[in-house]
Amino acid sequence: MPADGEQDLKKHGWEAREAGPEALREAMSLFPTGVTVVTTGHGEGTECMTANAVLSVSLDPLLFLVSVHKDARLNRRIREEGYYAVNLLAADQEGLSRLFASPERSSGPSALSSLGGGYGKTGAPLAEGSLAAIECELESAYPAGDHDLFLGRVVAVHMGDARKGPLVFHEGSYPTLVSTPQPGGSGAFVDSVRGFDARTSRVANRRRPR
Ligand SMILES: Cc1cc2nc3c(=O)[nH]c(=O)nc-3n(C[C@H](O)[C@H](O)[C@H](O)COP(=O)(O)O)c2cc1C
Repeated sequence: MPADGEQDLKKHGWEAREAGPEALREAMSLFPTGVTVVTTGHGEGTECMTANAVLSVSLDPLLFLVSVHKDARLNRRIREEGYYAVNLLAADQEGLSRLFASPERSSGPSALSSLGGGYGKTGAPLAEGSLAAIECELESAYPAGDHDLFLGRVVAVHMGDARKGPLVFHEGSYPTLVSTPQPGGSGAFVDSVRGFDARTSRVANRRRPR
């Protein structure tokens, strides 16, 4: 089917943009995400970075992905250490997000004391007060333009205080999440969540020892 002309698209409320970094950045700024701090290393070798390009990829086997810029300090350190932890930040951890997104941030003991959550099973440092932390052993690294995709096998999951709610990143800032109760909780969203839950419990049942 031929593409609609620019005038036709305008009628539908679209504003055409040249495909480029600015347009993609602007479009994606409209997509709210959670925020994580990804960590690796030990003591003097501690390295941390704020990241929202993270993805739970597979439940069977358990695989998790983080996308890290090729020039980021964390990139080299994950390759050297072969593991990482993804700390899911809580609503009151905007300070940690800002700290570990700064090129001037410290590595080593100073970063470690900002995290304050001890070391996980892999040896990666954890951020105290996070909602949860997911530890991975690096399985493969895939080049992806100016980033690398680090696919890890999940080896530990730590639950924190989920009642605090998530830190959210949207249009370049950290808005407060306000939940409005939906009477009856019906509709397509609930249906799609049910579908996801069904798949998840199928995997859980498959793995349960008989
Ligand atoms: C909310 C937020 C999310 C980010 N997500 C990522 C990400 O997923 N991957 C990445 O490489 N950089 C991401 N960044 C940018 C890095 O945290 C930042 O550029 C950092 O300084 C890079 O490390 P470097 O200083 O060692 O180069 C994000 C920044 C913010 C504020």
